[in-house]
Amino acid sequence: MCGIFAYTGKKGKEAGGVLLDGLLSLEYRGYDSAGIFMPEAGVVRAPGAVAELRKKIPKDFKGKSGIAHLRWATHGEPTEQNAHPHSDGSGEIWVVHNGIIENFKELKKKLEVAGHEFKSATDTEVLAHLVEEHLKTEKSFEKAALAALNEVRGTYGIALQYKMEPDKIIAARMGSPIVLGLGDGEHFVASDPSPILPHTRKVVFLEDGDVAVISSDGHKIFKLDASNVHRATTDIDWSAEAAQKGGHEHFMIKEILEAPEVVVNTLRGRLIPEKGLAKLGGLESVAEQLEKIDRIIIVACGTAYYAGLVGEYMLEEYAGIPVEVELGSEFRYRKPVINERTIVLGISQSGETADTLEALREGKRHGALTLGIVNTVGSTIARETDAGVYNHAGPEIGVASTKAFVSQLVALALLTVFLGRQRGMSQSEGEKIAQELKSLPQKIQSILDRKGEIEELAKKYASVRDFLYIGRKYNLPIAYEGALKLKELSYIHAEGCGAGEMKHGPIAMIDEEFPTFAIVPKDSVYEKMLSNIQQIKARKGPVIALTTEGDTEVASVAGDVFFVPETSEMLSPILNAVPLHLFSYYFSKANGYNPDRPRNLAKSVTVE
Ligand code: G6P
Repeated sequence: MCGIFAYTGKKGKEAGGVLLDGLLSLEYRGYDSAGIFMPEAGVVRAPGAVAELRKKIPKDFKGKSGIAHLRWATHGEPTEQNAHPHSDGSGEIWVVHNGIIENFKELKKKLEVAGHEFKSATDTEVLAHLVEEHLKTEKSFEKAALAALNEVRGTYGIALQYKMEPDKIIAARMGSPIVLGLGDGEHFVASDPSPILPHTRKVVFLEDGDVAVISSDGHKIFKLDASNVHRATTDIDWSAEAAQKGGHEHFMIKEILEAPEVVVNTLRGRLIPEKGLAKLGGLESVAEQLEKIDRIIIVACGTAYYAGLVGEYMLEEYAGIPVEVELGSEFRYRKPVINERTIVLGISQSGETADTLEALREGKRHGALTLGIVNTVGSTIARETDAGVYNHAGPEIGVASTKAFVSQLVALALLTVFLGRQRGMSQSEGEKIAQELKSLPQKIQSILDRKGEIEELAKKYASVRDFLYIGRKYNLPIAYEGALKLKELSYIHAEGCGAGEMKHGPIAMIDEEFPTFAIVPKDSVYEKMLSNIQQIKARKGPVIALTTEGDTEVASVAGDVFFVPETSEMLSPILNAVPLHLFSYYFSKANGYNPDRPRNLAKSVTVE
């Protein structure tokens, strides 16, 4: 997820200022490097956010048009060299891009044979060279751009500019959002309407497969096959802040609703379903060492720690490797028993959490191989670990982690297949997990389509001050996660508990005023869970249950039921997390709180 903003105008506005101001409102989309190209002035790029870029802009950097970008790294470190815009060999064609060009390696090889030299490690640079190559035969910027786009596979939102035609900008969309802004004597291209709104409220949302050409005077849109197409103009009445949230009230709900897309992004290019294999590029350099390891210690904090607990079940059951999960803040102070056959695996959305980082350093000091499951490319944990898997979940703004949690679970499932297939896991077992993983986005979507049911449940229970969450096996960590989310966003007492452990204490709290959220998929511990629910009912405790579609028994004992599509036991936590995230979001809202800004909490905890 990156931010794109482009401008062309003849109203005498200074394009550099327009572009830099616009980038500021896109900072929520990415902030690890930024860049700007203006045909009349040149290019400036900088690691860091917009403020860093602004410092580097020379006084005479002036022009009437340009393209600008904020990067959220997916390929290559967030360095100046990898920052957008990227150019072709001649330095005349420039591109900014959001998304992933899946066939960039084969295109790059072909272009290298034709004599092209590349300057960055990005997939994006290939696009500029491809346009350059087509310009040799097409002799028209528009036609060359179209020919290049027809060769590309993957997702993109792009803006392209050609030095020889400075008034013109070509934009295209395939999977990553692009919106045009229609002003009087000035036109815009952006990832969302927020940078456009200070200038005009008239916008056109592109659809997948659309290519648009804007100039200061107008715009036209056509399809990849060059046929013209008309897209309606929308008058935006949202504020710029609402535009950043895609029209949603909070980042948290926007991010929960992104879960299907996040699963696709975490899986992209990493499964070979017909061979039952997982391909994890970030682990290739240590693949041989991984064959020999006999123990994994997962270190993490908060929600990432709960993802680790699910990972423990996955890795032990399917890869046959003993796993321990430790809080970063505990592990760093113990005397770990580690050897060179131990992995210390850190899980962290930000890649900066101090306790997780120090735990990894402690592991390294004791000779362990260190790995990371990290969302933020180039973060400290990503840099300091020996190897790892990036989540590709895009920036997460809501303080409470939601979509990153979902992607951590998917990454752990991929790691399980990877390590499992190095050991005793059969091809057919690998195939089954791969198929099931691929079906998750659509199943999550069917849960999200019924978010209204969860909202009603949250409103019904909104006045309650205590909540128990119970689960077993794979879904015990999901009970912990559900309780954590509820307490951190609504400031009430909520507690996660192994359903079998209830009788050793927590059940003493149960009465008519004390509801329980039970996670009861149709799995190997289903019957046990049903008995636990009966124990709660016998004490008059209200029960909300998550169960598998088609189940009738749970509905006969629980007061409220939400149905979740069927999946394998191992992957059920990925589906069950979503309604619990929705419940805590709506519960917080129903109590009048702002779920994006829970009191006393921070998104990235870089202190002990
Ligand atoms: C904070 C956040 C949590 C997050 C935890 C770990 O407490 O509020 O949402 O789970 O840090 O963060 P990390 O970036 O390491 O995943």
